[in-house]
Amino acid sequence: IKIISLKFLPGFSLISGIHSPEVVDQIQNFEIQDSDVFVITYPKSGTIWLQQILSLIEVKGDVTATINQLNSERVPWIELLDSRKQFVSAPSPRICVSHLPYKFMPVGLKQKKGKVIYVARNPKDVLVSYYHFHKYANINCLTSNSQHISCVSVFGNCWFEHVKSWFSHKDEMNFLYITYEDMIKDLRSVVERITSFLARNLTSQQLNDVIEHSTFKNMKNNPQANYQQIPVILLNHQLGSFLRKGTVGDWKNYFTVAQNERFDRVYQQKMKDVPLSFIWD
Ligand code: PPS
Repeated sequence: IKIISLKFLPGFSLISGIHSPEVVDQIQNFEIQDSDVFVITYPKSGTIWLQQILSLIEVKGDVTATINQLNSERVPWIELLDSRKQFVSAPSPRICVSHLPYKFMPVGLKQKKGKVIYVARNPKDVLVSYYHFHKYANINCLTSNSQHISCVSVFGNCWFEHVKSWFSHKDEMNFLYITYEDMIKDLRSVVERITSFLARNLTSQQLNDVIEHSTFKNMKNNPQANYQQIPVILLNHQLGSFLRKGTVGDWKNYFTVAQNERFDRVYQQKMKDVPLSFIWD
């Protein structure tokens, strides 16, 4: 397994064996239907959580309807090698996730066809979550270059570029912006925002069921929802887990005062014109 660097987008990399530049390049031509839903995340921002929530919303909270399928099959990755076949043949509504930068997205999405849910997480916690992921992901050259906190990434591009490019184009799309921190603080109200955005009608009990089966504890214990089935060739499950800690502010246990000051300086500079704010702890 190797990392593929893309000449046409410096800093963005893919993983050989599961991705290819050709496949990513084709995604722009995927035909989009109004019922399509794309969940977009920078890595480690709550992707797996949205896969679980969205698939449960579609079955109105009935977890037994999801129990025979992994959440990554219920809400597949659009950038995987076989995605085109899957996407074209999937029944409506087609719901998928992606870490890809804005520029690779299907043209239709940028013309207000389909819907986009963008999930952002404060980048200090993204960094810590990614750090732990690197320790158990069997993908060599997962090198986070400590000299370049402004662009720490593998299988993604720069966090700042990702968030800024998606957010700055939001008016071109049917776009819902949510944050990981809001989900931690009040999952119910975020799920309600999602159901309203997708125009899904769930009863109060059905909403309760969606939330109940999307808690950190229940997902951690649910083999269909916690990525433990990802082959050991990619993830060494002895060394870590996807559902690691699931909190806001874990960065405080890792950043030194100097690192934090440095991070804040870079953040202020890169985000100075962006009207977004994060909950940091
Ligand atoms: S990936 O590799 O990009 O697909 O990872 P991603 O799923 O985006 O992010 C993993 C982090 O999301 C946390 N997570 C949750 N937190 C709270 N509640 C629930 N239900 C939940 N599901 C996933 C997961 O624990 C990772 O964060 P850390 O901080 O490492 O725990």
